[in-house]
Amino acid sequence: MASKEELKKLAAYRAVDFVQNGMVIGLGSGSTARFATLRIGEKLRQGELHNILAIPTSEETAHLAREQGIPLTSLEEQAEIDLTIDGADEVDPHLKVIKGLGGFLLREKIVAAASKQEIIVVDESKLVPRLGSKAPVPVEVVPFGWKQTWRALIAHGASPQLRMSGQAPFITDEGNYIVDCFFREIRDPQELSLTLNAIPGVVENGLFLGLVDTVVVASSTGVRILER
Ligand code: A5P
Repeated sequence: MASKEELKKLAAYRAVDFVQNGMVIGLGSGSTARFATLRIGEKLRQGELHNILAIPTSEETAHLAREQGIPLTSLEEQAEIDLTIDGADEVDPHLKVIKGLGGFLLREKIVAAASKQEIIVVDESKLVPRLGSKAPVPVEVVPFGWKQTWRALIAHGASPQLRMSGQAPFITDEGNYIVDCFFREIRDPQELSLTLNAIPGVVENGLFLGLVDTVVVASSTGVRILER
């Protein structure tokens, strides 16, 4: 039976088959998307891909892409991304997704919104009948007055936890905090997303709704592709 790491790699490698020469691509973050970045680097070196420009969704991915010799660009230079490959924490049957347990949700959402095709790569453990079944909704908040934002999140039904990195709050690439919000039940993800983003101090939340086109799922019985 394949290990979780092998399944992540399988899904990521299958997604890289969608990348074509000359594309501007988004590079996701996290342990599954990492395999896609490695595979793209390998294909570039082997001459199987050329003329690729990539936009990374985190400093971590930018570093990995540079190591792999993948040419980078930015959303200042490119108005549109052909295809992005990224991971997810939960995927529901309508391809609504929770992202951000790695802490990169803000750049990931900006890149997803700029992408003609957003491909999510997961092992089957990420499939859930309903968002919020296992994962919290990560919410990126500005450090100023964060406790007030935290109180407002409670008032809107969340059980929030400030994400820590050792003794100090975790800091995102944009210099913000992450508050992981657990909800008893997420009945209407769209409404919840609008509610969260309307709280002063909230920058963005990890609900990716209507942004995902394709999900590549690897399981012990093989890889399958879900389309919206
Ligand atoms: C990073 O902020 C996340 O959105 C990741 O894409 C997500 O957490 C999935 O990560 P793994 O592939 O490591 O599970």
